[in-house]
Amino acid sequence: MFAVDAKDLTKTFRSGWLGRRRKEALRGASLQVPSGAIFGLLGPNGAGKTTLLSILATLLLPDSGTATILGHDVVREAGAIRRRLNMASGNASFVWSLRPPEVLTFYGGLYGLWGRRLRRRVDELIEQCELGPHAKTEYNALSTGLKQRLALAKALLNDPEVLFLDEPTLGLDPDVSIRLRAQIAALRRERGTTIILTTHYMREAEELCDQIAFIKDGRILAQGTADELKRQIRIGDVIALRLDPVAPQGLAGLPGVLQSHARGEFMEYTVDALDKRLPEILRWLHEQGVLVRDCQVREPELEEVFVELAR
Ligand SMILES: Nc1ncnc2c1ncn2[C@@H]1O[C@H](COP(=O)(O)OP(=O)(O)OP(=O)(O)O)[C@@H](O)[C@H]1O
Ligand SMILES: [Mg+2]
Repeated sequence: MFAVDAKDLTKTFRSGWLGRRRKEALRGASLQVPSGAIFGLLGPNGAGKTTLLSILATLLLPDSGTATILGHDVVREAGAIRRRLNMASGNASFVWSLRPPEVLTFYGGLYGLWGRRLRRRVDELIEQCELGPHAKTEYNALSTGLKQRLALAKALLNDPEVLFLDEPTLGLDPDVSIRLRAQIAALRRERGTTIILTTHYMREAEELCDQIAFIKDGRILAQGTADELKRQIRIGDVIALRLDPVAPQGLAGLPGVLQSHARGEFMEYTVDALDKRLPEILRWLHEQGVLVRDCQVREPELEEVFVELAR
């Protein structure tokens, strides 16, 4: 059984005079997330990521289509699954003057926790999310990274089986986001939590997620593991060459060369079949009297896969 199973979800926002301005945020999005997976939803601004997550987290109603979480319908059985899921947003905000334990106590109350159980849960989460040294700092004085950790702690209050994270590392510097990613990975490892997160960062998705879906203009364009996506799109391998002269005329026009661009001192050529094209290119360079100072071969990066997909 899938933890999340969404079929053909659509959502149009209406705004302006008599709701005449329409924005189709989702146009038939389908998604399946295996239980216990970390699933990445990747896409540009306005693609529909937050809308999709909000529908799955029962915070927003779809116009059409269906979705189940842990086998329960997100519209008809919203009440039954709410206690088993939670969502944290990278740009959440809490009452400015509250301290982390107070924020968690407030939300814990909303989840029906009280008394000693609530106090214990708050203490556990303060410890787990390493907020202890900041327990006396007011929310508005916390750094972005700490605010993000507090948002995650809040989302863990009800010990959710399915956790939605909307841009969990938004605005964090690299080492703080590495720690947050480690925490997300630990959550799945130790508790088996199914995690669906959105991100703009290809590297983050590639590093953290078992499966990735790419969404654009309200549609899922592709879904699979990072490797599957690279193969599926077949954008080919990349040959990086440091040459003298730097960019010889005619190389980009050779058979099998799909793309070329400069990257630092290197010219990069994407080719359809590495085994065949590398010797051809080296032979051609030799014939032209071009000096090869360095030659490296690499797989395409996810970012390149998506540039290709979004065409
Ligand atoms: N409440 C709303 N009213 C009107 N339009 C909305 C509303 N919420 C979202 N939209 C529009 O729906 C589209 C999808 O928005 P959504 O927030 O889901 O995108 P996103 O992929 O999360 O983008 P981002 O990466 O910027 O967070 C956008 O064009 C957005 O302007
Ligand atoms: Mg968003």
